[in-house]
Amino acid sequence: MSETYSPGLAGVIAGETAISTVETGLTYRGYAIEELAEQSTYEEVAYLVLYGELPTPGQAAEFRSRLGAEANVPSEIIETLRHIPATASTMDVLRSAASLLAHWDPETADNSHDASVRKTERLLAKFPVIVAARQRLKSGQEPVPARRDPKLTLPANFLWMLRGEQPSERQVKALDVSLILYAEHEFNASTFAARCICSTLSDLHSAITGAIGTLKGPLHGGANERALEVLLSVGSPEKAQAWVQGAFARKELLMGFGHRVYKHGDPRAVILKRLTAAVAAETGNQNLEQTAEVIEQTAWNLKKLAPNVDWPCARLYHYFGLPMDLFTPLFVIARVVGWSAHVIEQLDNNRIMRPRAIYTGPALRKLPR
Ligand code: SDX
Repeated sequence: MSETYSPGLAGVIAGETAISTVETGLTYRGYAIEELAEQSTYEEVAYLVLYGELPTPGQAAEFRSRLGAEANVPSEIIETLRHIPATASTMDVLRSAASLLAHWDPETADNSHDASVRKTERLLAKFPVIVAARQRLKSGQEPVPARRDPKLTLPANFLWMLRGEQPSERQVKALDVSLILYAEHEFNASTFAARCICSTLSDLHSAITGAIGTLKGPLHGGANERALEVLLSVGSPEKAQAWVQGAFARKELLMGFGHRVYKHGDPRAVILKRLTAAVAAETGNQNLEQTAEVIEQTAWNLKKLAPNVDWPCARLYHYFGLPMDLFTPLFVIARVVGWSAHVIEQLDNNRIMRPRAIYTGPALRKLPR
């Protein structure tokens, strides 16, 4: 048995993937995220991640039409959402809903490549419906159905279902960019969990349910909600430096900072920071933006810690008036395509995940009888 052990699997190569890499900056299927964020839409990126190539205009239109046709959930699931206590977090509700959806999917147990692609499209279309419906039900409003308008993109439809009114183009574009940047990220914890689950020849819905449970932790996707809590509690640029010094002195983790792979900064955070700053100016949030800037500078000066994608994204969503409880579910709405592409890749060339452990328990001993 190899003696190599790396806590947290740091630096361990746990598989091969053709979906994305963080080696040469972040690329999806060979395209730099900087170019994708500027020139494409989330739907095109979802198609790219899932199918391996960008869609032609015809394929893009068909893809949107299929997503539109699937943008509904069984009434039994909506009914269940009504009965889940309002105190349950949207991430927990979404995790349960992902599992419930398996019972209504006609191909749940079919692990073939093509069936898994079709199941992915259904989840991609249905998660925004569930998140929006749950949010409305929680606040005493009835769900708003998706609009079957071929011009309406997935993020535009999500904002429509959430608010029942036409979102501004600016909001749709900013949400779209954030979803592009959240869509895929190599062997992160939730993706690895999904690959582990399907490596037993379980199924896509089980893998996605497990991935959602993994993502919600504050060391992973849950950090975007915590990052906003931090920022709001600091409150002003004048207090920010002393607050970071105090947090580090107390050995607290600064949410939205640090990364296992990126030690000099997360390229997604760089893109989102520019966008977030522009939206802050438009929405009168300069005070929070300046507070964030001082926190960022202090964290870098004191610990060479750079922000990750969750730091600017939390502010972006807040400036749009999205409730904090939806931040990590939005990460799910985007990442489901990355997780699913990994599940499909794993199933296409599967070997069950089964690492070893270094035993630290008692040496062999006799029963005391
Ligand atoms: C995501 O993996 C992915 O790709 C995930 C993700 C994706 O797209 O899928 O990018 C999404 O999960 C982003 C990360 C969100 N999490 C947070 O923002 C939570 C706060 N950050 C961390 O706790 C931490 O940085 C992690 C969990 C992200 C990474 O953990 P590591 O790799 O185990 O960190 P490390 O061991 O390399 O840390 C090195 C040092 C340590 O100090 P020393 O013990 O050496 O003195 O840096 C310190 C850490 O304590 N450190 C921090 C810190 N992050 C690292 N100190 C204060 N605040 C932090 N945020």
